[in-house]
Order: sequence, then structure tokens, then C-alpha cells
Amino acid sequence: MKRIEIASPAKINWFLHVGPQRDDGFHEIETIFQEIDLSDHISVEPAPEVSLVCSAPDVPADERNLAWRAWSLAHGLWRVPPVRIVIEKRIPAGGGLGGGSSNAATVLKALVRLFELDVTHEELAGAALELGSDVPFFLLGGCAYGRGRGEQLEGLDGSPRWPLLLIFPGVPVSTPAAFRHLAGLRASGVLGIEDFRGREMARRVLTSRDPRELNQLRNDLERSAFELAPEVAAAARAAMQAGAPMVRMSGSGSTIWAAFTGVQDRDRALLELQASYHAVAASPVSR
Ligand code: C5P
Repeated sequence: MKRIEIASPAKINWFLHVGPQRDDGFHEIETIFQEIDLSDHISVEPAPEVSLVCSAPDVPADERNLAWRAWSLAHGLWRVPPVRIVIEKRIPAGGGLGGGSSNAATVLKALVRLFELDVTHEELAGAALELGSDVPFFLLGGCAYGRGRGEQLEGLDGSPRWPLLLIFPGVPVSTPAAFRHLAGLRASGVLGIEDFRGREMARRVLTSRDPRELNQLRNDLERSAFELAPEVAAAARAAMQAGAPMVRMSGSGSTIWAAFTGVQDRDRALLELQASYHAVAASPVSR
């Protein structure tokens, strides 16, 4: 029987606005997700029993893994047979790049193709959201404006062209911990809740030639991550000192991205940062 080989890409958030906490415990968010050209590689094939092999030693290769949970959910919903999943990891875990979420969405897509499942996009998106807030975005890819938990998605044509650098501070940040810390800062009056800016304003910023325009938008989880892991704040400072015009954290961290107007400036900063950090060049990917 056939085997599906498929790339499982990472994302960054160009900005991430966090609104009030809802009754279900999740926070209302506003963001623009951006697929980037850093990917894990996944293969899925039918097998006598379900199994998972993952190349990263710090990622659990069992039912705690979102890729395994994607199979379990599809098995329960659509009776898909057991599969062997192999994940070649390149996206760091706990990095705010959506690696686990992307793996889950990619496994769902692979199962649909492998077993020619007769499911609607809505059913697939519903299953994706059960697996995690960022999973529905990876069914879509490219550049998308997201509201709700991030599942109310609107694909945006084209993507900004700014050459990117990703800087990995070497420590993970837990997403629930980052949201909890922000809720604490707000409850004690240290931080307020700022307004969402709307899709049109965000789109205007993203079509600008100058990445510094993104300073009009924010990542509301930055302060939490910086306080929980000072290494993240240090990586952001290092990127600014290396001349990056626009520096921001992705998702709930810990990855810091920097955007440049040209490849030469980006490559100069990359060389400088690589002396003290694990840093890589990346580019936005359009649908
Ligand atoms: O959906 P996901 O599994 O990524 O969420 C992990 C945790 O992050 C949630 O359990 C919640 O504590 C927090 N979170 C949140 N609001 C969101 C997304 C995540 O509070 N919109």
C-alpha cells in the first residue's frame, strides 16, 4: 500500500494580540500567521499497529505527541486504520513556531489522502481545533489573519517578502505558562488589555516595504516570556544589537524572529548572531 511523504512547515506570528480570557479558559486572540520555509518531514503508511518514530530526543514518541493524537482522533471519528508515522524534526519544540501543531495538521491531511476519507473541510477543521488552537492554520498555510482561538481564519493573498532570521534562545517556553503569566500581570494591574487592530490595519502594515511598520502591532505574550525566560529577552536584544530593524517573538516563544529589508543585511546579522546563538535564515511562504 502507498506511503505519504509530506513536509510539515513552521509558522511565525507577525503579531499576536491577546484579548480577555473566555469562560472556556482560552484567550481571544488576533494574529497574522505566516508559514515559513522551515519544515519537519513526515511519512505516514498503513501498519499492523500504530507507531511513531521521532528524530528529536526531547519530543515524546508516544500518545503524548500531537501527531499520534491526530491519528487517535481520526481513528475515533472516521475509523482510520493503524499507521506508522515517522517524523524528521527540524522545528524546535517549545519554540512558538507551531511544530507540534503543524505535525498534527499534516498527519490529518496525510490520513485523508492515504485512506481517501470522505470528510468536509469543516469536519477536518473541527478535528484540528480539538488538537490545538494553531492546528487549523496549518490546514491552510500561507499567510492568514486569525481570530477566536486562532481558528477563525481568513487567508491573505501574498506574503511579506522580508528576509527573516530565526534566533533560538535554547530554552523552551510553555504556552499555558505564558498565558497564565500574562493573566497574572493583568489581574495585578501591571498590564491592561489593549484593543485589537482589525484585519485592514494589519494588512496595511504587512504590505509596507519597511518591516519597522510592524511596531504598530504587538506580541502581548512577549513580556510574559521575557520574565519567565530571560534568555528570550537576551536573544531579542542581541538581534537588535546585530542591526535588525524589526525584532519580535513568535507565538508564546521562545523563538525570536528578525525581519530585514534586504538579504545582505540579513546575512550580515546572521553571521554575527551565529557566534553566540543557534540562528538560521528563513523566508515567508505564500500559498
Ligand atoms: O490550544 P493549545 O493547546 O495550543 O493551548 C495551550 C494552552 O494555552 C491552553 O490550554 C491555554 O491555557 C492557553 N491558550 C489560551 N488562549 C489561546 C490559546 C492557548 O489561553 N487562545
